[in-house]
Amino acid sequence: MSLPRYTVPSLTPEEGAKAAEILQERLNSLNDLHLTLKHIHWNVVGPNFIGVHEMLDPQVDAVRAMVDEIAERIATLGVAPVGTPGALVEARTWEDYSLGRATAIEHLGALDEVYRGVIEAHRKAATDTEEIDDVTNDMLIGHLRDLEQFHWFVRAHLENSGGALSTEGAVTELDAAREARKAL
Ligand SMILES: [Fe+2]
Repeated sequence: MSLPRYTVPSLTPEEGAKAAEILQERLNSLNDLHLTLKHIHWNVVGPNFIGVHEMLDPQVDAVRAMVDEIAERIATLGVAPVGTPGALVEARTWEDYSLGRATAIEHLGALDEVYRGVIEAHRKAATDTEEIDDVTNDMLIGHLRDLEQFHWFVRAHLENSGGALSTEGAVTELDAAREARKAL
């Protein structure tokens, strides 16, 4: 971890570097997420096409705004944000989204898994920045409020009247897509 020449007042260069390192991972994650959401927007088929197709664009816009906020916070901390696709792919610890053309319920099942992973990592990043930089922490908490609501929009399609999710217990996107389809 190389240290910035300057960071925001009151933080040590080490704290600035650490907050920026945590944020770079969130930048990669949310850049991946908005591209994945567009991929689903283009590839969803079958009944309920239009509902899912149209639900996703506002989520894309909101996630892109979060990405911009994260990148600019990294720069504010005195570190250069990395926004290129090659660097993202090299740094990421997850695989590309698993589905191509598929039905609405299958994409929703898979997207439940996607949001679960992104939100768990985002919440961990928020916790990890609590002691280092409360401004970064506050920004991440703000993102979580919207990400968790978007996750609920997805999950409401997978929930029965008893409150159970069809994707409960699934650990991969393909499993979740299969479980969601079976429950129809
Ligand atoms: Fe579109």
